[in-house]
Amino acid sequence: MIPKISTLSGYLHEYQKSVANPTGFWSNIAETFYWRKPWVKTLDWNFDEPKIEWFKEGKLNITENIFERHLFLRGNQPAIIWEPNDPEEPNRIFTYRQLYEEVNKFAHVLQSMGVKKGDRVAIYLPMIPELAIAMLACARIGAIHSIVFAGFSAKALADRNNDAQAKILITADGGYRGDKTIPLKETADAALEMSTSVEKMIVVKRTGVPVNMKENRDVWWHEMMTGKPVSFEPVTMDAEDPLFILYTSGSTGKPKGVLHTTGGYMVYTAYTFKNVFQYRSNDVYFCAADIGWITGHSYIIYGPLLEGAISLMFEGIPTYPAPDRYWQIIEKYKVNEFYTSPTAIRALLAQGEEWVDKYEMPSLRVLGTVGEPINEEAWHWYHDHVGKGRCPIVDTWWQTETGGIMISPLAGIVPTKPAYATLPLPGVRPVIVNQEGEKLYGKNVEGNLCIEFPWPGMARTLWGDHKRFKEAYFSTFPGLYFTGDGVKRDEDGYYRILGRIDDVINVSGHRLGTAEIENALNEHPLVAESAVVGMPHDIKGQGIYAYVVAPERPEGLEDELRQSLIKGVSKLISPIAKPDQIQFVDALPKTRSGKIMRRILRKIATGSDDFGDTSTLTNPEIVDKIIKGYEKLNQ
Ligand code: WT7
Repeated sequence: MIPKISTLSGYLHEYQKSVANPTGFWSNIAETFYWRKPWVKTLDWNFDEPKIEWFKEGKLNITENIFERHLFLRGNQPAIIWEPNDPEEPNRIFTYRQLYEEVNKFAHVLQSMGVKKGDRVAIYLPMIPELAIAMLACARIGAIHSIVFAGFSAKALADRNNDAQAKILITADGGYRGDKTIPLKETADAALEMSTSVEKMIVVKRTGVPVNMKENRDVWWHEMMTGKPVSFEPVTMDAEDPLFILYTSGSTGKPKGVLHTTGGYMVYTAYTFKNVFQYRSNDVYFCAADIGWITGHSYIIYGPLLEGAISLMFEGIPTYPAPDRYWQIIEKYKVNEFYTSPTAIRALLAQGEEWVDKYEMPSLRVLGTVGEPINEEAWHWYHDHVGKGRCPIVDTWWQTETGGIMISPLAGIVPTKPAYATLPLPGVRPVIVNQEGEKLYGKNVEGNLCIEFPWPGMARTLWGDHKRFKEAYFSTFPGLYFTGDGVKRDEDGYYRILGRIDDVINVSGHRLGTAEIENALNEHPLVAESAVVGMPHDIKGQGIYAYVVAPERPEGLEDELRQSLIKGVSKLISPIAKPDQIQFVDALPKTRSGKIMRRILRKIATGSDDFGDTSTLTNPEIVDKIIKGYEKLNQ
């Protein structure tokens, strides 16, 4: 069993041990898993190449650690409780044994379609149990899953599939989200028109809408599953064999295929799940994220199932059919740990207290948040109205690249403080550096958040682009992993995450690169160039503010052009990337070397006029004009 910390002094002691002897610390935890062959070296690393190898030459299969390891004790215990979008529709519950059998059957399906160890399988599914089954079946046969959030456009899906050179795409006829149905198969068809590698498509029937099944390419999930055997010998994986790719946005260029490997990710997600949430056997744990993002990978599927937990998976949205949907689910299943985003909390807060106050939710013991900084108002509302003042809040800071939670209280153990992620987990060594790369020690310091020592869950590379991996994370401050976040360490030594300091915007906890959105805007024939920055947004945390240069736009039709630009961004990326505000400008402020001075544009979009030095601009006169335009637009 994974060791569980249960007191503050226990935490301090474990932390100390993990720093003094990291390999001893992590190998003790890793030994609680089932390895087909033990590792020969716990850690081999340098942050220059960079190279990170944990549990070297150890052999295992992660699904064997989920299923075979738990079947004897937990065969008849639920692994996944699936709650549908529509509360009137029956739920589906999979015990560990049932999930195991479905995963095995689907592993046979993949195998029968020619999928082999190391092949990439793209998954574009809504939040239905087949999503969990598909990803675990990939892990069972050693295929690398690349899950693409079902809100992404055909173009975004195609770009990701092409980059990963995925062989198979798994989708559904459609998906439900609130009162909407999403035509997934149609989007998948359009993506395959642009795809260079996908040979076959497997389609789950969810909504029953008529779809076009292409002969020799498309097959139905339920037909393929019929008659498949319920056991499947797991493929032996090396600890450092890839487990999955997950695309995320960076500050420049196309999305990055973050690659996680098998052994370290397994150890890290299971350990952090158990300790952060203080999960107890038979608890019902509910993470409201989507499996299309890292939170769902690590804390709906891998972490909880590795721990033998009961993981609740919800298809719908918090406001359908009414804004008490989460509270209703928590009461119905007696949820003990609940994990969601600050955006969801703010959206529900805005609906009024009456929706939550009528639910007692006595089962709740732990509340979690993730994805973006939580403001104090939302923190207190979560604490007082959802947790009724008796549940600790774990504000968990981490990233797609970190694989699992890095800085967070351990529930009920590390005292919390609103808006603070508090202290690093055992094995995590954060450092704060200034612009010159000097480490800032002690209390009351603020700067760039870096990590100075490897942890088992960290990404190993970017798919097909190790050079970019090095540049993006290990070059800004040589010898350190750079997170892209600003941070403050206060007088108690507690960490407060201040948000991204690069050209990444965090909209509703979704990470978007400004460059991607600009590229989409620039596709419009009337747009000469554009610059996108974040702006404060009451619910979403950050909104998207776009400055667009469109000299030939027809007079009086600016609103129409705005609509057309918004549509374009939705189509090229996703509705989540739609600008909240578009301001047409004559030109963008640029330096002599032709670089857009985003610092100024960022300030204007927050309503500030404190720009600092503007003497390096070639066109300083444009700044006043942009401010005037801003004021006119936002009065
Ligand atoms: C970025 C990573 C990790 C799961 C979801 C997001 C921001 C994440 C917090 C938090 C303040 C946070 C950071 C980070 N972030 N958690 N508790 N407090 N900011 O994963 O899409 O990879 O985004 O989300 O800016 O760098 P992601």
